[in-house]
Amino acid sequence: MWAKKLGSQLGRPTRSVGGWLVSKLFKTRNQVLEESAVQLCRIQPGDTVLELGHGPGLGLESAAKLLTGPTGHMIGVDYSEYMHQMAKERVKEFLESGKVTLHLCDVAAMPLEDKSVDKVFHCNCYYFWPDLRKAASEIHRVMKPGGLIVTTLRHSHVAVLAAKRVMPGDNWRPEAYMAALRDSGFTDIRMEDIQHRNITFQAIYATTLT
Ligand SMILES: C[S@@+](CC[C@H](N)C(=O)[O-])C[C@H]1O[C@@H](n2cnc3c(N)ncnc32)[C@H](O)[C@@H]1O
Repeated sequence: MWAKKLGSQLGRPTRSVGGWLVSKLFKTRNQVLEESAVQLCRIQPGDTVLELGHGPGLGLESAAKLLTGPTGHMIGVDYSEYMHQMAKERVKEFLESGKVTLHLCDVAAMPLEDKSVDKVFHCNCYYFWPDLRKAASEIHRVMKPGGLIVTTLRHSHVAVLAAKRVMPGDNWRPEAYMAALRDSGFTDIRMEDIQHRNITFQAIYATTLT
């Protein structure tokens, strides 16, 4: 019962005590993953960058600071109303200047044009997608040829949560996510271990064909 409740707050936080608690966890425990995903994207000042499942908005903020060129643009999508509002507060100035746009929507149905995004990143998000292939195809649709997608996760932590059935099914497994990327047309799909600030985590990369 508690595992299901925790899973539902992690997967789509609501404005509630549970949602507030998990948002605190995201801000303290996931900062390294968010910042590393941004760095690994090798963002150029004029890129259009998309973060999926941004939660409180830490990654949005660090990426937006790198998009200093006139065409540089940061887009965030998250289907939690609570996280959408929390991120809006965090990146308020970037929203006002037009540097950041946020969409309250599902990763599997984004209001974005075909081939419009250079870089995509996400942290701790794909485990909650009910249909990995549908989501991966939608991401592929919005990415430009030669685009890069990076996801970061702490495999050992996710495996513990999955064993306690916090995440249902097998979608949390990196192999399942990587297979969905492959089936959706991504190439150069690989995972590596990274050590940073005494934390070991994994990064999964994929690209779209040029
Ligand atoms: C575990 S939280 C991670 C938040 C943040 N990226 C981090 O690492 O701290 C997962 C986030 O992804 C969002 N999310 C999950 N599935 C989604 C989907 N299908 N479409 C849009 N957002 C989704 C949730 O609402 C939540 O904010």
